[in-house]
Formats: sequence, structure tokens, C-alpha cells
Amino acid sequence: MEKKNIDWANLDFGYIKTDKRYVSNFKDGAWDDGCLIEDDQITISECACVLQYAQTCFEGLKAYTTEDGRIVVFRPDLNAQRLEDSAKRLEMPVFPQERFIDAVVKTVEANEAYVPPYGSGATLYIRPYMFGSNAVIGVKPADEYQFRVFTTPVGPYFKGGVKPLTIRISDYDRAAPHGTGHIKAGLNYAMSLYPIVDAHEKGFDENMYLDPATRTKVEETGGANFLFVTKDGTIVTPKSNSILPSITRRSLMYVAKEVLGYKTEEREVYFDEVKDFAECGLCGTAAVISPVGKINDHGKEICFPSGMNEMGPVTKKLYDTLTGIQMGRLEAPEGWIKVIK
Ligand code: PLP
Ligand code: COI
Repeated sequence: MEKKNIDWANLDFGYIKTDKRYVSNFKDGAWDDGCLIEDDQITISECACVLQYAQTCFEGLKAYTTEDGRIVVFRPDLNAQRLEDSAKRLEMPVFPQERFIDAVVKTVEANEAYVPPYGSGATLYIRPYMFGSNAVIGVKPADEYQFRVFTTPVGPYFKGGVKPLTIRISDYDRAAPHGTGHIKAGLNYAMSLYPIVDAHEKGFDENMYLDPATRTKVEETGGANFLFVTKDGTIVTPKSNSILPSITRRSLMYVAKEVLGYKTEEREVYFDEVKDFAECGLCGTAAVISPVGKINDHGKEICFPSGMNEMGPVTKKLYDTLTGIQMGRLEAPEGWIKVIK
């Protein structure tokens, strides 16, 4: 199979239309059989629930070409579970988990020509999502839904690849206590658009959101969880009910402890402690692990000892181990890798 003529090494995190997408529609209380289609356009009612009341949730995962030329995806079962959790919180019908995995596999297979080659630095980003598609004008859930999976080849989420980022404390909140921060609802990202545009305009790469109730504890950024490394080498990640349970973060914490032998802590992290950490990174499917060099708190800077030129040593070790597992250079824990071909 011949790959598309794409400049893989210079891709950014953008959308490129690929050949096929998977679609299944929910009507009269049931999902149809679903199939791959070519049409990338969607026609829905002007009054569709997704358009009026943002009834939509999504997932993000990646397909990788391994060192020995296989195509694999990383822990799609956890994305299937998380989409189910999101759907339930948004009063949407659950798309069965085994069908979710099958849809991901079929969509990647159908777009094999777009899976970036091993070593190119790019990957195939997979975006499963669902939305309420029929007209509702009173505030209530839709009766009809579409589940769709498309793919797009991507490069690094942050420009400059793995260069340390400068982030700032946000004065806006992304999620409310007891709200929807723990699910992957489109509405959470709409909330973050104003603060991210403002952050970029002011020269920052991302926002650090603090807990909305007290503004004393670290939550996450608009698209990734935090990992910190203490000066004595413990890996710490914030625990909160209003952050997205990142699959990358859960995988890294497991690998850190069980494979690399670090001490790990998932606990509340007060912003006051952050100045004492040795390293800071953002982790997620899109972000992989992106090192943070500096945090700006209303003009007061916290500069991590790892500096602005490269990843700190522990972050690097985690990065190498995670990407090693994803690209087939290192053995994966049982069940983490779904081989597509
Ligand atoms: N937090 C937010 C708000 C996200 O959008 C993402 C991306 O999916 C993550 C964290 C990282 O989650 P994961 O590692 O499952 O991609
Ligand atoms: C992902 O990492 O998959 C996400 O959905 C994050 C988003 C900011 C692109």
C-alpha cells in the first residue's frame, strides 16, 4: 500500500481530510449497523441539539507505525469507556464499547495510506465523537444521534515540538465543581477558547487552570493533565473530580511506578508547592509529554530548574518510555496495544 505524498516531518496539529470515516446513526432507540463512508460533510437540522445546546462529546487517540512496520493504537478500550462516561453525563445513548473499538480499527485500516511512517515524528490522530442531531428547542436531550470517527495525520501539538513551554495561571475557570470537567464534552473546550486566545495573544503557550472553588489547587490545562517531579524524584499528579482522567497520565503513572521504579503520588497539589518542584510537564494524547519551563502567575515567574532548552531528565525518561511502548521499541504492559495490522 502506497503512502500519501505528505511532508510528514513538517506536519503540525491540524486537520487534513482523509479518505474514509465511520458513521453510525441512532434513531428510534437503536444504533444502526454503521459503515465507512467517503463524505466528510454532515447535514443536520438548523435546530439540532448539538447546535443549540452543545450536546456533543468526543475522544482522541492515535495510531502509530511501529519500528517493525505494524500499525497499532494505544489503549482504545479506555477511550471507549470514557466516551461511555461522557455520553451518560450528557444524556446521550452509549455507543457499545466493542463497536467503538471496531469502528476505530475500521477507520484506521481504511486510511492506512495516511498513517505516518515510523520515525517521521507524526502520527494518525483518531477523533471519535457523537452529537445530538435532531431538532430540539426546549432544553432537553435529542432523540437522534450520530457517532462518527475520522482520522487526520498530525505533528506535535505545540509548535517547536518538545521545547519547554511557558504557561500562565488563568483567571478564567474551565470547569465547575460537580460540573463536566471530568468528561470530554465539547462544551468544556468552548469554555476554554477565550482564555486560550487571550493566552496566545499575550505570548503564553497554555493556561494552567486552578480549582474553581478555591483557586488554590492545580487542575489541568485546556487539553492536558499535569505531571510534576519533586526534587527527590517523586512523580506527582493532581487529583481532582473536575479534571479529565487522562489516559496518557494514567499510563505514565503506571509505567513510572511499575516499570521505572519511581515513587508516584496522585493527590491534591497546591499551587503554592509548584515553585518547589524540579520538573513540570503536560501529558495527553495530543501533548504526549510536553515539558513546561516556566509558569507566569500574574507577572511572578516560576522557572523550573530543568530550564527552557530541554526536557528535565525524569520527564525525558517518561517520554522515552511512553513513546517507546507506543512505537513498539519497548514491551507494552498486557493489553495496552491494539494491533491493527
Ligand atoms: N485534559 C484535557 C482537558 C484533554 O482535552 C485531554 C486530551 O484528551 C487530556 C487531559 C489528556 O487526556 P488523554 O491522555 O486521555 O488524551
Ligand atoms: C487529545 O489530546 O486527544 C485532545 O483531545 C486534546 C485536544 C486539546 C486536542
